[in-house]
Amino acid sequence: MHIKHLSLTNFRNYGRLELNLPVGPTLLHGANAQGKTNLLEAIYYLATTKSSHADQDHQLINWEALDPKEPIVVGKLIAQLETNQGQNIVEMRLIKETQRNQTTFRRQALVDKRKVRLMDLLGNLRVVLFLPQDVQIITGAPSLRRRYLDITLCQTDRDYCRALSAYNKVLEQRNALLRRIAEFGDGLDLLPVYTEKLTNLGSHIFARRASFVSALGRQAQNIHFESLTDGRETLRLHYLPNLSTNNNHRTDDSSLNEVIKLGQWLEAQADQGAIEERFIEALEEVQEVDIASGSTRIGPHRDDWHFWVSGRNLKNYGSRGQQRTALLALKLAEISWMDEETGEAPILLLDEVVAELDEHRRALLLETVQEVSQTILTATDPNMFTEAFLETATLMHVEAGQIRPDRKEAIKS
Ligand SMILES: Nc1ncnc2c1ncn2[C@@H]1O[C@H](COP(=O)(O)OP(=O)(O)OP(=O)(O)O)[C@@H](O)[C@H]1O
Ligand SMILES: [Mg+2]
Repeated sequence: MHIKHLSLTNFRNYGRLELNLPVGPTLLHGANAQGKTNLLEAIYYLATTKSSHADQDHQLINWEALDPKEPIVVGKLIAQLETNQGQNIVEMRLIKETQRNQTTFRRQALVDKRKVRLMDLLGNLRVVLFLPQDVQIITGAPSLRRRYLDITLCQTDRDYCRALSAYNKVLEQRNALLRRIAEFGDGLDLLPVYTEKLTNLGSHIFARRASFVSALGRQAQNIHFESLTDGRETLRLHYLPNLSTNNNHRTDDSSLNEVIKLGQWLEAQADQGAIEERFIEALEEVQEVDIASGSTRIGPHRDDWHFWVSGRNLKNYGSRGQQRTALLALKLAEISWMDEETGEAPILLLDEVVAELDEHRRALLLETVQEVSQTILTATDPNMFTEAFLETATLMHVEAGQIRPDRKEAIKS
């Protein structure tokens, strides 16, 4: 799959951009703060309906357009795609709405010019984004790792995404009920209804995450062992489902092993009813504590998964180099997993990552770039790439929210 044309209106520092994109690698180069990362963020947003780093949608809107005197502000992102299935147009709009001096942005998604639910935008455009700060997937909080699982899965699996969104709603309702029971002593009879809804959706999420982490782990393990460490180090990904009370003592080795085994049990479990039953049992075990705290402590909303290298947790014991190597293995695995899952390679978005890799790893990543149909890379200095690579790439210069093909390209076309 590839993007043929991208239009941006009022997105970050792009007031207006119309950009034709070729197949193969495109290298966006330019000084700092010109809009290289913003362009990747725009494509990522169209694919996932999430920003790679903004907390709130208003941060995505061009701040010059946000002038209070400007009543109608629409941020617009449109991509024309070419896929195995044919041509598509995906669009996201961010529409300014002011009520009682409060400004918010309403999001609207369109596929082939027809309005769709945000969730139905997902899956049309599929990307793998690689940012220098992605090492936080290994070292950061569990929520970052859950986010990674959800965003990657949602790009390929609509059922998962629907279940996840419904689960989060039911979770909120169940927590509200728990607080009501604690505060007013009524509503206990309703609890089993919410528990059933929650476990029904949650068991689907558990099962899908277990099989995903395992499939991704197998791919990452091969790449890591064979291509990245010359057979010296083994990488394992372990899913740590929050499906038992054991999870609360994860630091001790034996309970950690129990949780890893539970992840393996989930993966092997063909019968979703069995997962549901186990989930209900675990929730019943902690019901009193849940009522007292007004929150549900068991469930996929508190899942985690970890990276182990040669038998040790990479988060606690890995060197920075080992963490980066594992991350590269993960990203390369993600590409081939998506390819297998959908029959089509995703679009690769690489932000400044090539500069951070040593020669061997850089060559490996650029080899993958040649295998997918489209890659957008950014760099402040194109000279870090080999002549051979630059020959195959289209170079574009980014300056103050404008993108122009290099003169060499202009002559070529
Ligand atoms: N909402 C916004 N409206 C207008 N400009 C913005 C907005 N958000 C960020 N910017 C600006 O966009 C500019 C380009 O940011 P971007 O992160 O794309 O730079 P870059 O080219 O990737 O630079 P670097 O090489 O430093 O990574 C920055 O100066 C930033 O302050
Ligand atoms: Mg940048």
